[in-house]
Amino acid sequence: MSEKFFSEVDALLAEIESTNVSSTEELEAFRIAYLGSKNRIKPLFAKMRDVEADQRKAFGLLLNKTKQRAEEKYAEIEKSLSQNNRAQEGAHIDLTAPGYPTPVGARHPVSIVLNQIVQIFERLGFQVVENREIEDEWHNFTALNTPEDHPARDMTDTYYLKFDPSRVLRSQTSTVQVHEMEDKQPPIRIISPGRVYRNETISARAHCQFHQVEGLYVDEDVSFADMKQVLFHFARELYGEGVKFRLRPSYFPFTEPSAEMDVYWGLKTDEDYRMTKGTGWLEIMGCGMVDPNVLDLCGIDSEKYSGFAFGMGLERQAMRKYKISDIRHLYENDVRFLRQFKSAF
Ligand code: DAH
Repeated sequence: MSEKFFSEVDALLAEIESTNVSSTEELEAFRIAYLGSKNRIKPLFAKMRDVEADQRKAFGLLLNKTKQRAEEKYAEIEKSLSQNNRAQEGAHIDLTAPGYPTPVGARHPVSIVLNQIVQIFERLGFQVVENREIEDEWHNFTALNTPEDHPARDMTDTYYLKFDPSRVLRSQTSTVQVHEMEDKQPPIRIISPGRVYRNETISARAHCQFHQVEGLYVDEDVSFADMKQVLFHFARELYGEGVKFRLRPSYFPFTEPSAEMDVYWGLKTDEDYRMTKGTGWLEIMGCGMVDPNVLDLCGIDSEKYSGFAFGMGLERQAMRKYKISDIRHLYENDVRFLRQFKSAF
């Protein structure tokens, strides 16, 4: 009586072993037949009660073995099919298809010239230092020998903080000179890049927020000739050997004597006239010998030490280098403009 049931299960096990499965569709059919909720092994479990008592255990073991083989076979085939699929996908990659373009950014022209300037001065032994953008009047004006009634102190030139009118948004990076001399004794050789703020009407030549790089060199026996050498070297490095430049006498409260440096721009187009106020020259920095008063105010012995200082607008350098004739291009972040400045710096 029981033999019939045993041979039914044997037949099913043999069928499971011999079923050929070579596609995902066939695998699904296999799953439904032997592992699904209405699989063909299940009804045989119900036959258990018809099996003679002393054979039930063996019958149960045979059923479980059948079920387990179905599960194992399913897992094996699923694994090998998915490996095959992956290999197939690889076989279909078209190596000649054009790639997807990856958008590559470009450095901002102000960053490019800043990096170049830093490299030039670092090679001369200058160190980069930075300092705060919110300053007191002492660091922005008084220690820099700026008289109480100087027009630069006026609210129309400098931004004073509303909640603390003794503080300003620094209008020049010369403030860093003061910090540096207050904190250290010579030799001092620094450049200091940073943002500055001025209450200016925005135009093609001016902005209310821009960047400067300040330079300061204080030691024994520093002369105007040293300054000229350093600044001429700088101009040739940044603008190229053939560049025309000149120093012009000028005035700043914190230097004596003072000068301004111009680089030749050109004088052909209307734009050249506008950019250079009809002279062909673009002013790129102020400079001079640090006024002994400033040295003394900052705690440096002006009998023993002398120094030179300079300050330049970074936007100005970028404008001259790339012949950009409107400072506003540098702030609008139009990608069509920015994309033109691919650089190694
Ligand atoms: N601070 C000046 C300005 O913003 C630039 C300047 C001139 C800086 C002469 C200096 C200097 O250090 O010596 O216009």
